[in-house]
Amino acid sequence: MLSSPKKRIVMAVTGASGMPFAETLAGNLRTFCELHLIVSRAGWLVWDQEIGQDRQNLLNMAFCHYEQDDLAAPPASGSWRHQGMVVCPCSMASLAAVARGLGSNLIHRAADVTLKERRKLILVTRETPLNAIHLENMLTATRAGAVIMPASPGFYHRPRTLQELVDQLTGRILDALDVDHALTPRWCEDNE
Ligand SMILES: Cc1cc2nc3c(=O)[nH]c(=O)nc-3n(C[C@H](O)[C@H](O)[C@H](O)COP(=O)(O)O)c2cc1C
Repeated sequence: MLSSPKKRIVMAVTGASGMPFAETLAGNLRTFCELHLIVSRAGWLVWDQEIGQDRQNLLNMAFCHYEQDDLAAPPASGSWRHQGMVVCPCSMASLAAVARGLGSNLIHRAADVTLKERRKLILVTRETPLNAIHLENMLTATRAGAVIMPASPGFYHRPRTLQELVDQLTGRILDALDVDHALTPRWCEDNE
């Protein structure tokens, strides 16, 4: 048994567009889980570009955070237990590394370990358009047990603000991680 009653979730932020998803997801995981955070160097570049706030704001949401080069950090080992990992957003470069089992930085190693331990791995991929390499890597990762959740929110709940749009996809990611939340209007469950 884990000593913490909260679910332990590993979240990696890589250098793809979609940082509002990362910010909202981290905020919810902080509330409901023990959040272990890894941000890649490219992830920080895109965070600066898209959010423009102090990086510490994101780090403050984590129970613990690690550098991408820290290959001795807990998420690098299968004997360190957790209840799921999400890469949000997930760049095509990190998707490729996961699909090929490279394990060359902590994010890729933690994802590889998550798959080998048969734990939940959610990849919130973001790129458009997609080439054959991207698509093949998505299929390879799916066959290895990952769940590909493209960063493509729905509009059926008629979002009026950017945050409502972001909340919709974030709620679906939390559902995939089996983490409670009160974010999403659910089809045939929530009425205006
Ligand atoms: C502002 C900005 C936006 C980017 N958006 C994307 C993107 O949406 N998808 C993607 O696959 N790569 C994107 N990239 C390129 C990745 O950051 C780059 O491939 C990087 O090597 C990814 O490294 P990482 O997976 O270790 O974070 C973007 C780069 C920058 C600077």
